[in-house]
Amino acid sequence: MSADTNGGDGHDRRTFFTRMTTGFMFGSLALGYGTVAAMAGRFLYPARKRRASWQFVARVEELSAGQSITYRAPSGEKIAVACRAKSGGIDDYIALSSTCPHLGCQVHWQGHEKRFFCPCHNGIFDSDGIAKAGPPAEAKQNLSAYPLRVDSGSLMIEVPVEFLSVKKA
Ligand code: FES
Repeated sequence: MSADTNGGDGHDRRTFFTRMTTGFMFGSLALGYGTVAAMAGRFLYPARKRRASWQFVARVEELSAGQSITYRAPSGEKIAVACRAKSGGIDDYIALSSTCPHLGCQVHWQGHEKRFFCPCHNGIFDSDGIAKAGPPAEAKQNLSAYPLRVDSGSLMIEVPVEFLSVKKA
């Protein structure tokens, strides 16, 4: 008699644990897929544009033709600001992301060649950031450009001012 009762308790316990494990497994799967779906949705359909503002880069007289400087945006992004010529127009300057769109290495300006070069896989971009050789050219991956303007002799750049991953309430 008591053996039946114990067997019944064991069966109930097994059923309980099986249901609990199954529920936990499906809950974890739903949570995992939900997170991936939320990330994909945010990437595909960004709710809003990143906040940007105009920031000081340098005085124009500090940059001569063929020279470049690395500017770090408040968001942490590294940007190569190059002086391509000294004709007096805003087109003398260009600001491009220093991060290679291929695998994320840092590109640098080669003033004598008037191009940006990525040493990791010999990626070459022209002075407008258009990929011309190497893996970025094969994948048609250009460098991202940032707007520039000159205000009273100061070179200004419009950049994102908030981090991608940190959001305060
Ligand atoms: S990371 Fe720049 S060419 Fe590969």
